[in-house]
Amino acid sequence: MSQFDYQNGVLRAEGVALPIIAETFGTPTYVYSKAQLLENFDAYANACAGRDALVCYAMKANSNLAILDLLARRGAGFDIVSGGELLRVIAAGGDPKKVIFSGVGKSVDEMRLALQHDILCFNVESIPELHRLNEVAGALGKKARVSLRVNPNVDPKTHPYIATGLKASKFGVAFSDALDTYRMAAQLPHLDVAGIDCHIGSQLLDDTPLLEALDRLIELIDALAAEGIHLHHLDVGGGLGIDYGVAGEEAPAHAGDYVTRVFQRVEAWRAEKHGGKAIKVIFEPGRSIVGNTGVLLTKVEFIKYGEEKNFCIVDAAMNDMARPALYQAWMDMQPVKQATGGATFDVVGPICESGDWLARDRALAVEAGDLLVMKTAGAYGMTMASNYNTRGRAAEVIVDGDQVHLVRRRETPEELFALESLIR
Ligand code: LLP
Repeated sequence: MSQFDYQNGVLRAEGVALPIIAETFGTPTYVYSKAQLLENFDAYANACAGRDALVCYAMKANSNLAILDLLARRGAGFDIVSGGELLRVIAAGGDPKKVIFSGVGKSVDEMRLALQHDILCFNVESIPELHRLNEVAGALGKKARVSLRVNPNVDPKTHPYIATGLKASKFGVAFSDALDTYRMAAQLPHLDVAGIDCHIGSQLLDDTPLLEALDRLIELIDALAAEGIHLHHLDVGGGLGIDYGVAGEEAPAHAGDYVTRVFQRVEAWRAEKHGGKAIKVIFEPGRSIVGNTGVLLTKVEFIKYGEEKNFCIVDAAMNDMARPALYQAWMDMQPVKQATGGATFDVVGPICESGDWLARDRALAVEAGDLLVMKTAGAYGMTMASNYNTRGRAAEVIVDGDQVHLVRRRETPEELFALESLIR
């Protein structure tokens, strides 16, 4: 059941009508449902129950502290990609010992910070990174737990910008180089070779490519074991897609079913080939935890009828939600108050660029002053927001039943230039 539903023709988030949120907090505002967030996390957690597993939420999808706190208290670990994200986890009360650190360009400072906090594992993406981490750990008198991100070379069948596991990608170590790279890592004195990981792409509706990638990792684990390199964990990455409401698109695999399929494969292999030895399975979901948890609430400023196109000009823009402009992503737009009639519009923001659009060719019954929502906007919305055109970023609220909590207030213009100075 969606936590965003119409009641008497007005869209609500859980028990709160969205016009009340617009009145209280202004627009644009990201509105999240706590119940939806926990339901999504629980789909993973419940399917993992009783197994040696850890769900490391990929916080790049949405890193608001309140969201991290809710997930941390539910037992989540975190997949981070910067020192800044680690500091967010700590500020939210998350456990650094459940943190894995992904990314191709970790700096010395970031490595040091993560080692000082004793994170669970570094997902290493290249040979130079192994050497850097070995040195940094040695200087601190520590051993860094590492996993190698391997490119299984499986086609994820998703948008090229968000496909990451192919040969031509900047990420990870080529499958054919993986054994040699592990042998080398095992020789480095300040590294503890702990795991293997991959991440082949995002918004995968069918989980078949994810399971194929898992099979390839398992092949490598066996080959490594034959050489005396024994891994403690297997990290299958993130990538499970969600339903954006795109007409004709297949329904995404359910997270619980996907996790169950992963364990079926892992357990069959452990029993047959891995001598029944324990191995922890790590998941790195981002979008499937937060995507349908949020909507972007916006107000119509003007309606502009043109010869070829009609424009619905709203107060949210590409700086608030970059996905349409960046990936031509189709995002669902709905009026907060249901109405009939209307016309076909491009929904655009106030930014001075033709690329500033949120939706194209949508039938909408709206007038100036009405409220609209962009649905399924909880993932890669606020985290990718910018201050282009000196626009303060949107406010963020979490609805919990009939309560609304402001979890990030709107930025003021003065805050946007407070760090700058004149040279005269
Ligand atoms: N693990 C790693 C190493 C990743 O790079 C990512 C996402 C994830 C996990 C989480 O993937 P998810 O479960 O969210 O698919 N901004 C783009 C998506 C970029 C994804 C980047 N990596 C978008 O808005 O579609």
